Amino acid sequence: MCGIVGAIAERNVSPILLSGLKRLEYRGYDSAGIAVINEHQLFRERSQGKVAALEAKVIASDLKGSLGIAHTRWATHGVPHERNAHPHMSGTIAVVHNGIIENYQELKSKLSVGYSFESETDTEVIAHLIHSMRNDSETLFATVQKAITYLEGAFSIAVIDSNLPGELVAARKGTPLVIGMGLGENFIASDPFALLPVTNQFIYLEDFDCIRLTCTSIEILDKSGHIIERPTKNLYATDDAADKGLYKHYMQKEIFEQPKALSETLQGRLKVNLATLMGCDTHLSSKIEAVQINACGTSYHAGLVAKYWFESIGIACHVEVASEYRYRESVTPQNTLFISISQSGETLDTIEALKLAKQKPFLGYLAITNSPDSAITRESNWTILTHAGREIGVASTKAFTTQLTVLLALVDALSQHSNAAISEALTSLPFYSEAMLAMDETIQKMSKEFSESTSALFVARGILYPIAMEGALKLKEISYIHAESYPAGELKHGPLALVDKNMPVIAVVTENALTDKMIANLEEINARDGCLYIFKERRVQQKIGFGHEIELPDMPEITSPILVSIALQLFSYHVACEKGTDVDQPRNLAKSVTVE
Ligand code: G6P
Repeated sequence: MCGIVGAIAERNVSPILLSGLKRLEYRGYDSAGIAVINEHQLFRERSQGKVAALEAKVIASDLKGSLGIAHTRWATHGVPHERNAHPHMSGTIAVVHNGIIENYQELKSKLSVGYSFESETDTEVIAHLIHSMRNDSETLFATVQKAITYLEGAFSIAVIDSNLPGELVAARKGTPLVIGMGLGENFIASDPFALLPVTNQFIYLEDFDCIRLTCTSIEILDKSGHIIERPTKNLYATDDAADKGLYKHYMQKEIFEQPKALSETLQGRLKVNLATLMGCDTHLSSKIEAVQINACGTSYHAGLVAKYWFESIGIACHVEVASEYRYRESVTPQNTLFISISQSGETLDTIEALKLAKQKPFLGYLAITNSPDSAITRESNWTILTHAGREIGVASTKAFTTQLTVLLALVDALSQHSNAAISEALTSLPFYSEAMLAMDETIQKMSKEFSESTSALFVARGILYPIAMEGALKLKEISYIHAESYPAGELKHGPLALVDKNMPVIAVVTENALTDKMIANLEEINARDGCLYIFKERRVQQKIGFGHEIELPDMPEITSPILVSIALQLFSYHVACEKGTDVDQPRNLAKSVTVE
């Protein structure tokens, strides 16, 4: 998704801006741009494609300045093209923007008398709007404060004016923006990770905050125009996450980091009660009769797995994608806990669904996230952090398995009779995840056989069905192979019509109450010549005798969704490598989706 970096210093800020953009690359983007002010003149370079292409242009044109803004764009309005890349300019003003301006057409037609538009973006109207409102008797800061009142939608913006080489103005509403504090220099970014090479002191801005930075001062005005102080936070994240080490891709590194991530997520969470786990009132536990889970993408799949766990201990569970929940009438059953699951904590649909839910009579709002200072955390009563460490690959891996781990620990804490089986399975989870990773080579061999396929069905039953959904999502995200998932028992109601020798079916068979039924479903596929790729747990006694089969290590049934998902992550990863796709930054996708 789009990324913003800005800097004001007494040195050339171009390298800081480019390094910031590179650190935001993992979020997904299709073009990039930079504008700096040097001796009262505005200089801009933009480029379609990777930041490396922009960097080459910056070097070639020797673009330098002590005040600048930069951006990675993920197209919403207008194709990925240099002319649509930010910064957008109007006279002496340059603007970068994350989010969507919903009323841009209306503003555009008002501004079309006097301004000509060079791009198809919604952002360009912001540049012209600010320019049209600028006058000598008012500061840029005051103009921007006024201009943003005309903007509908969600946005973070940063603005510079070549007439004012000593100040950087920015504002946010609905999408993230932080100030990075330096010594005699200041910065802004949509994600503090972009600025870690230059500072570890950050101020997280709130909605409607408008700021003015100089080299030595920071002014923040809140929604009502009052000067306000926001707390400073130190971020001691190591730079490790930005280094692939010996791995070929971040995704591969993150898959292999799972034993560590799982064990860090479990620290202090085994056999604890709800109050300890969530930091809530001790009475909450006895009040919860149901949970409502909202999330998007992979996090939604974590919710779907959790439904099986919650309902196994008698707690009703409803799971919904946030973008649907927020636009429909829904009933809130009594004594229901609302849970938002989000790796980034910044997914717009999930935040908006949470805001809507806060108007309803839920018992309270719990966030499960990997980002301690995110919007979802701030909007919720309680947060359980997944200690996955930074996840850079767009396709979620360790964030997903740590979400599942937290959800199972939550179910354990809610379980009336403190469920020994859950605690034991959680304790041994890092160990079993190591065993699953040891399957890497075998899985790689199978993925080679599969990689020429153009389509695939993922099938499983019971609690592994959402893992089949996640397996199909992972495969399509990073290999661009069309993949769908079905509960195996549902095949006969339609998808079986697709099955012939050209239809690969990826199946998961583990030891549980549905093993026989699952194998019977595989027989149905085999009888129609379907090309089966079977992940089968070693202890399953029944011989299958057809298809390509991989024997997975034995695992506790309750944590099997977490462990099987690791095998499917490896499968998709190796298929994508065979196909030579951009594994860490797949086309058209973004890590953190801060627009609708
Ligand atoms: C994007 C990412 C997915 C992620 C989803 C939800 O689509 O590409 O990997 O699952 O957003 O993100 P969240 O940060 O809310 O978990």
